[in-house]
Amino acid sequence: MANNMTIHLKVWRQAGPNEPGRLVDYNVENVSADMSFLEMLDVLNEQLIKAGGDPVEYDNDCREGICGMCGCVVNGMAYGPQQRTATCQLHMRVFRDGDTLTVEPWRSSAFPVVKDLVVDRSAFDRIMQAGGYVSINTGNAADANSLPVDKDDAEMAFDYAACIGCGACVAACPNASASLFTAAKISHLALLPQGHPERKHRVVNMVDQMAAEGFGDCSNHGECEAVCPKGISISAIAMMRREYLKAVL
Ligand code: SF4
Ligand code: FES
Repeated sequence: MANNMTIHLKVWRQAGPNEPGRLVDYNVENVSADMSFLEMLDVLNEQLIKAGGDPVEYDNDCREGICGMCGCVVNGMAYGPQQRTATCQLHMRVFRDGDTLTVEPWRSSAFPVVKDLVVDRSAFDRIMQAGGYVSINTGNAADANSLPVDKDDAEMAFDYAACIGCGACVAACPNASASLFTAAKISHLALLPQGHPERKHRVVNMVDQMAAEGFGDCSNHGECEAVCPKGISISAIAMMRREYLKAVL
């Protein structure tokens, strides 16, 4: 592995939501193996700006794997070749000198492209607005042990709460389903006592909103779990289905 590499990029360029897009070739030289993927894109953008061109638009914020903003597809895989790793934490050392990388936005009609690699993920916000919260005033943080929660339930709720709302699950799913995201939110709240009073309305409203946004249904491909940077288990979807059935029967 060379320390400073030349990387050939094919980057999706699209000027706006209703403009046609295409892959454009770029070469980025002197890429350090220690750079993150986003830092490599920064080098490309400096190159483009110096040449008087239009920099590649991409989303990012935390650059530490917690905000869920930096989604893009690298060589056909959501977030690229390293499992459980958002693009901001993907390091160039996983690639080789001379590699060609194709970089594209999340592909889903429910996530329209805003520009280049940036997509509009407000469909997720509307799913959350449909019930992904507890609407009662829970007051200050309760004293430890004043509200007993079974240890297994607490751990499972914590695992589901790790979802960062990034949308990789949608991008990887052949049905463009948002089931893993929606199920993580529903299951997290259904497992905790604070989430019980509204659990029936919540699951019906959130699942209905998911469908209204144009996301497909789950048919158990499991691609979502494979690309999820937080390792959310597909068991959340089974729980969402049980919750939905209990709510409507
Ligand atoms: S379930 Fe995973 S892949 Fe889907 S939005 Fe949440 S963190 Fe991202
Ligand atoms: S920039 Fe926040 S998860 Fe990557």
